[in-house]
Amino acid sequence: MTDSPAPSPYGRHRTDVQDPEALRERALAALLTARERTGLLTDSVDDHELTAQHSPLMSPLVWDLAHIGNQEELWLLRGVAGREAMRPEIDGLYDAFEHPRATRPSLPLLAPAEARSYAAEVRGRALDVLESTPLGDRPLVRSGFVFGMIAQHEQQHDETMLITHQLRSGPAVLTAPEPPRATGAALPTEVLVPGGPFTMGTSTEPWALDNERPAHRREVPGFFVDTAPVTCGAYRAFIEDGGYDERRWWTGEGWAMVREHGLSAPLFWHRDAGQWLRRRFGVTEPVPADEPVLHVSWYEADAYARWAGRRLPTEAEWEKAARHDPGSGRSRRYPWGDEDPTPEHANLGQRHLRPAPAGAYAAGRAPSGAGQLIGDVWEWTSSDFLPYPGFAPFPYREYSEVFFGPEHKVLRGGSFAVDAVACRGTFRNWDLPVRRQIFSGFRTARDA
Ligand SMILES: [Fe+2]
Repeated sequence: MTDSPAPSPYGRHRTDVQDPEALRERALAALLTARERTGLLTDSVDDHELTAQHSPLMSPLVWDLAHIGNQEELWLLRGVAGREAMRPEIDGLYDAFEHPRATRPSLPLLAPAEARSYAAEVRGRALDVLESTPLGDRPLVRSGFVFGMIAQHEQQHDETMLITHQLRSGPAVLTAPEPPRATGAALPTEVLVPGGPFTMGTSTEPWALDNERPAHRREVPGFFVDTAPVTCGAYRAFIEDGGYDERRWWTGEGWAMVREHGLSAPLFWHRDAGQWLRRRFGVTEPVPADEPVLHVSWYEADAYARWAGRRLPTEAEWEKAARHDPGSGRSRRYPWGDEDPTPEHANLGQRHLRPAPAGAYAAGRAPSGAGQLIGDVWEWTSSDFLPYPGFAPFPYREYSEVFFGPEHKVLRGGSFAVDAVACRGTFRNWDLPVRRQIFSGFRTARDA
């Protein structure tokens, strides 16, 4: 599962890709974990809140729930097992390309009880398909790919549903323990990643999506990168220095966005009697200075970096800082090695409902010395979302190919809201540069 022919010393907790039974178990566990999270996110509000639209940017939660079931039916029951459609009349309602989010509440959607029983019935049948399908032959099921894809899809909607929870008004309904604090000596603010080639992307990770493939060599000149994402305290200094009032830090589009929407701080922040407060899942609290900043658009991240005399890292720089091991010359699956993430490595899976303070997760650091690359906050990069050399769409064009182009910027590393199954050193996310409701932050870089 690594991109180097050298045997890996990090194999202890890896899934053996040669062993279909291990992959079947891994798929089963990923599907069950995802459904448990879906249950928490949809059972924590009443039917009225499930069917309401909390923001025109988002679907009603009940749409996500039935869409999760519908995609699972399409791919696992009809696709893998060749079954008849269970409810052909609903396919159009849950086709994300057919209906933009803002219009979804006006559709004749399945009511909450129906959506729950549909998703549960699909799941019951899908687990039978998982148990009875040989995982070795067709590309779609080889290494359990399509089962992993559907678990990732559900987890991605669980992240989307958590964004809906963040956008809803009313009292808090979700709780989680606090993330770990930073321990040990203070980190340097930046580390040097020496110039030279490294292996970007993957050809061997069994559930990697088409846009992460294939592995290829990239030459990356030397650069310095922040050891942790930019904190709220550092971002506050940008605000207080008049960052949102000075044209010179902003691109033309970024400045237009600031003016049009009157932006003066990250989304969900406001100032009260000289103190910065934020709203987080129904609770108003002081903005913590040492926590990575969240809910900033690409334009804000880019403007901050320019104000700081720095820049956003390119996507290749981010991945090299996260995966390249100069000792062996190979790229790791994760910054810490090839083992799947544990709670000691990274803040993932909605285990905590906020990023950990900068400097936490010492066990998750990369050979470069940079930390918190996986989990905590999605990190904006300077790069447009483009295919790697040798890209081939799989299993369908609409997964990635239709989104390639300069209108989307790449985010890396996953946030606290992302499950481990949908987060790898090679995982690529993309969004519009105006987007702020996502769990997005950033780190900065400079040429060496
Ligand atoms: Fe979807």
